[in-house]
Amino acid sequence: MAPSVSEISSKPVEDVAASLKAAVLDEKKKVDQGPLYPRYVPHFDNTEKFPPTPIREFSDPGLRADPKKPNLLKDGVSLKNISPYLGAVVKGVQVSQLSKEGLDELALLVAEKKVVAFRDQDFKDLSPERQIEIARHFGPIQVHPTSGNIVGFPEFHVVYRDANHQRFREYRGFDNRANKTSWHSDVSYEAQPPGTTFFWILEQPENGGGDTLFLSQVEAYKRLSPEFQKRLEGLRAVHSAVYQAEYSRKSNGPVRREPVESEHPVVRVHPVTGEKALYVNPGFTRRIVGFREEESEYLLKFLFDHISKGADFHVRATYEPGTLVIWDNRVTVHSATGDYPTEERRHAVRLTPQAEVPIPATA
Ligand SMILES: [Fe+2]
Repeated sequence: MAPSVSEISSKPVEDVAASLKAAVLDEKKKVDQGPLYPRYVPHFDNTEKFPPTPIREFSDPGLRADPKKPNLLKDGVSLKNISPYLGAVVKGVQVSQLSKEGLDELALLVAEKKVVAFRDQDFKDLSPERQIEIARHFGPIQVHPTSGNIVGFPEFHVVYRDANHQRFREYRGFDNRANKTSWHSDVSYEAQPPGTTFFWILEQPENGGGDTLFLSQVEAYKRLSPEFQKRLEGLRAVHSAVYQAEYSRKSNGPVRREPVESEHPVVRVHPVTGEKALYVNPGFTRRIVGFREEESEYLLKFLFDHISKGADFHVRATYEPGTLVIWDNRVTVHSATGDYPTEERRHAVRLTPQAEVPIPATA
């Protein structure tokens, strides 16, 4: 029960605030009926096993798109850039209603803007089959080796946190870190890492927070001197799934596929825009091929610092009920923001179409 007025008036302000907060949390626990979308509660089945992912043919749908995007950006659709380098907010179009041509144009738009937040979408209320059908337009959907999926649909990657479910705190080392930023590019260890990636929110923290930070790897590359760019082009780096799998095993989670390591170019070229982008991320890139250990550590530390400190080529994607964020995972790095109270629930879902084997940039 909430404290009475007489109880409050005799206590210091801090105590009153603390007891009010405790009372509010108590009330919330009582009324919490569980997640709004129980269908998408993360499912972990340790007996689930997948074969190694084969190399699959891929042609980016953006290559087929009309650059004017007449099927996507019709009259009444608004598009507002978040920054000149990346990010846009689009209103007035339902992604679920787009024709094949409209979806091709969406691939092009996302390649150009790198991350786009579509507001007021009905996407979250479609059937899982339909959600998969739409996302599959952009490539074969990755099945995640360790994360929560949903019963019967291993294609879904569920992001879920509440007072009792804090599965990834330790993985990210958050208990002993001064900040909770964790820059990564999703599953970059795959031989064909994801491209046009779908992420939609089901429930967000009540008092704000839970946004996603994005940065442009194209702009990060452009900021380097021509001499340094030349040194990076031609280099390859190892991206590894080993730590993620080991962590899952250690915490009694599934390892559905043996962890893979892939060598990718340090600078890749986008197949549609032709833009060059850095392709290293602290989440999965482990070493530079052919370098001594110290050389590799030195170079990766510089690149990780460079991308994470470039706040002038970062943006923040915010969520409203119905927001669907689509990003190009080939040319961005992102991080969740763990800035909301542990008692609060955040629930989101990702579908992750895989793209081409990365194309190396040549000097
Ligand atoms: Fe991610």
